[in-house]
Amino acid sequence: MEDVTLFEVGPRDGLQSRGLPVPTERKIALIDALGRTGLQKIEATSFVSPRWVPQMADAAEVMAGVRRLPGVRLAALAPNLRGLEAAIAAGCDEVAVFASASEGFSRANLNCSIEESFERFAPLMARAAEAGMPVRGYLSSVIACPYDGPTDPGEVARWSARLLAAGCYEVALGDTIGAGRAETLAALLDRLLPHVPAARLAGHFHDTAGRACEMVDLALARGLRSFDASVGGLGGCPYAPGAPGNADTRQVLEVISAAGFRHGVDLAALAEAEAIAGALPA
Ligand code: HMG
Ligand code: MG
Repeated sequence: MEDVTLFEVGPRDGLQSRGLPVPTERKIALIDALGRTGLQKIEATSFVSPRWVPQMADAAEVMAGVRRLPGVRLAALAPNLRGLEAAIAAGCDEVAVFASASEGFSRANLNCSIEESFERFAPLMARAAEAGMPVRGYLSSVIACPYDGPTDPGEVARWSARLLAAGCYEVALGDTIGAGRAETLAALLDRLLPHVPAARLAGHFHDTAGRACEMVDLALARGLRSFDASVGGLGGCPYAPGAPGNADTRQVLEVISAAGFRHGVDLAALAEAEAIAGALPA
């Protein structure tokens, strides 16, 4: 049976746009509970500007407080060299840079053009290579942008290839505002897969009306083997107005199993993490 990796992003994508502050110890309890489920990759936090995303201002404290378990890799977002240095100092196992396939979202989320965001990644990528730190790349707004409307699949192909060329080990395709359907994803992959192998792509789908699971199913059939999801479907983005929650971890695991793949996650243990997630301040 073939393995599929589920990248749990709840502690980061799930919590970054909550209205009420989530106490650091509750974040730590959530990450620890997720670590006991068999999930191998957990995005724990973001080393971004606290003025831009105050919900992630306790990134170093979160990393210092979590229990490190063998086989569980902890990741964090890093938008620039400063974020990378902080992530290294905090003991992260990997980092993720994030770019956008649309100019509008790039400006709103990173305060620069897409091209400028790549210039900013350059010193980060050089330092990460020197430190032996794996870097994942997110590409946002791959289906549609909250500011610019539908995204040209050609732009997704162009910027995905740039992220890989810059040194990212894979590109997570972000449907940031949950605008996708199986058909739109199929059209995107038709354009993308001749240029970028499925093994270097992951699906990061925010969910509107259960469509994220249909997209995971379609992506599995097209050869993708890495998916992001969030415990209890937590999620959003402070710079994407109306962005719905991420694909729910349990639902994505069910799709993976139903399609005949192995994920290695203990669903009973996941219920404990779901209970913690469900009790967080909204
Ligand atoms: P800027 O204002 O253009 O740049 O922000 P700056 O260099 O002037 O920095 C602003 C302030 O932040 C300064 O502090 C810097 O020192 C500080 P001040 O002088 O004003 O007191 N600063 C930092 N502090 C801590 N850590 C750092 C750091 N860097 C600068 N690493 C910047 C540019 C990139 C910093 C800003 O735009 C930023 O932090 N953006 C992050 C936005 C974000 O985290 N968005 C959510 C994550 S992306 C997402 O959710 C999508 C995803 O899920 C995929 C999908 O769904 O599509 C990944
Ligand atoms: Mg997201």
